Amino acid sequence: MNEMFYPSEEVLKNANVKDYESIYKRSIEDREGFWAEEAEKLNWYKKWDKVLDESNKPFYKWFVGAKTNIISNAIDRHLETANRNKMALIWEGEPGDVKTYSYHALNREVSKFANVLLSMGVQKGEIVTIYMPQIPELVIAMLACAKIGAVHSVVYGGFSYEALAERIADANSRILLTADGGYRRGKATALKCIANEAMRRSPTIDVCITVKRTGDECFMENDRDFYWHNLMGMPIAGANADTVELDAEDPLFILYTSGTTGKPKGLIHTHGGYQVYTSTTFNYVFDIKPEDRWWCAADPGWITGHSYIVYGPLINGATIMLYEGAPNHPYPNRWWSMIEKYGINILYTSPTAIRGLMRFGASWVDKHDISTLRLLGSVGEPINPEAWRWYYEVVGKGKCPIMDTWWQTETGGFMITPIPTMPLKPGSATKPFFGNEIAIVDEKGEEVKANEEGTLIVKSPWPGMARTILNDPDRFIEKYWKQFEKQGWYLAGDSARKDDDGYFWIIGRIDDVLKVSGYRLGSAEIESALVSHPAVTEAAAVGLPDKLRGNSIHAFVILKQGYSSDSQLAEELKDYVAKEIGPIAKPAEIIFSDGLPKTRSGKIMRRVLKARALGQDEGDLSTLED
Ligand code: WT7
Repeated sequence: MNEMFYPSEEVLKNANVKDYESIYKRSIEDREGFWAEEAEKLNWYKKWDKVLDESNKPFYKWFVGAKTNIISNAIDRHLETANRNKMALIWEGEPGDVKTYSYHALNREVSKFANVLLSMGVQKGEIVTIYMPQIPELVIAMLACAKIGAVHSVVYGGFSYEALAERIADANSRILLTADGGYRRGKATALKCIANEAMRRSPTIDVCITVKRTGDECFMENDRDFYWHNLMGMPIAGANADTVELDAEDPLFILYTSGTTGKPKGLIHTHGGYQVYTSTTFNYVFDIKPEDRWWCAADPGWITGHSYIVYGPLINGATIMLYEGAPNHPYPNRWWSMIEKYGINILYTSPTAIRGLMRFGASWVDKHDISTLRLLGSVGEPINPEAWRWYYEVVGKGKCPIMDTWWQTETGGFMITPIPTMPLKPGSATKPFFGNEIAIVDEKGEEVKANEEGTLIVKSPWPGMARTILNDPDRFIEKYWKQFEKQGWYLAGDSARKDDDGYFWIIGRIDDVLKVSGYRLGSAEIESALVSHPAVTEAAAVGLPDKLRGNSIHAFVILKQGYSSDSQLAEELKDYVAKEIGPIAKPAEIIFSDGLPKTRSGKIMRRVLKARALGQDEGDLSTLED
């Protein structure tokens, strides 16, 4: 896999940054100097005393002593320039309705909603849970929280009430922001009904604000439930609000992600370091120009949306596109027609989405003039060379470099990524972003030889790194920093190779985390959902390769006495998991079994199950109990 794709003259001529190697060298020799220089490009109420504080590793601090608020950079400073009249957000609903917001209008809506939150008594540092479809109010709600120093916790709108209730409880949230529903594949989801179920299990919630999107009936409880538009129409929702001055290290948001145990981890990101990291990575990697229209086709409810729909692009004064619904509704040309309609210049999406659209064939793309595209991006899982080529040739017409960005919820922004002028190899995320020293090592921490598989580690801190896990700093240490404690390295949880040219090739997770359609799920989450079903006594979930989704979930299940292993029960269990966690977690296959391979200490050996299902060598079975 060593075929190289070189940037065109056009790309080389127009790129903001041309020489990766010299900037990289500089950024490593003087990491703090590099980041200070990038931070100088932003507004601060007060500058930092110290760029990096390493006194309490691994709880690093960045821009210590600085006063800021990410909103002063994402919105406020644009109001003083011509950007005030620039489009900040173009939104299209699935039924075809359109809304646009200039920076001026975005500021007004954010300020109004900030005033609504203040009138509800929301305090600095309080965690507000947001459970919404992909509508502008989701972005407005996030920004309004940040503006007043509240901390947002966005829960993906595809999650179940159980998952929502669990996250509300962990965050101890008093306020829930939701919508009656959203549109997906022509149908309205019943989001508020799910939120109601969650609230029955969430004694901490005393205010719920609902956006009327679909107009479908849903139960509204007196004194607890309010409609967004009613509150926004009241005199309390004045169009001016102060952006609260915060410490650089004050929390901006919590985002839950799946780990190896059943309990999701609430990762904390801050105002100061995160604003520097997302804006810098976005600017260098996506080479943003004032005239660009940027489309990150992720859900704002994931880190991709937080960093590269909302914060990174807005800090750069970019115009962002947001689309509510499914890529193939009503026809598989939906995305291409929107790229043509809005003149999108940069598209950033996942390999799963690309493979999904590829299935329908090039003729759907070719119906549209998408020649405005000049750059493409990929994220979430390794991109297979076949999908890469299709994306490059059919979508990019052979002229748009593909930025394959490797990163994680924990990292806040891109960690391994090309810049547009770099020669590309299909399937490789290329090289570390500026400031990052990344290596592939063996269990002892020795760097492995070129082309050998090993564990991916990050040797140096970066401003966008998560600061800790909410309520569980020990788990933060245990999970990411324990294995290479002596060296002080960050353990990413992925395996990878580095080739002779220094290009990185991500292979996949080495822990019990599954990547299904780019979504991250823990084996343990799926297993605990299964054992909560009355028929199941034990379960083990593994991911097996899937052409479309990257991986699909296969669950081995041991039934309680008196239940028979028939296909009806298998279907029931699949639906049950989808209901418990969300449709993304629905197993592709349920395999009834009489036992599970376990170590003597009782740990399920998932790798044995996986190897068996794939008909591969089961490896060393010496620690197997039975
Ligand atoms: C995991 C993190 C970062 C936003 C979306 C996912 C996998 C991510 C790539 C890529 C190969 C990738 C890794 C990583 N991953 N990007 N370009 N190539 N693998 O965030 O849900 O926190 O998942 O996604 O396995 O550890 P996330």
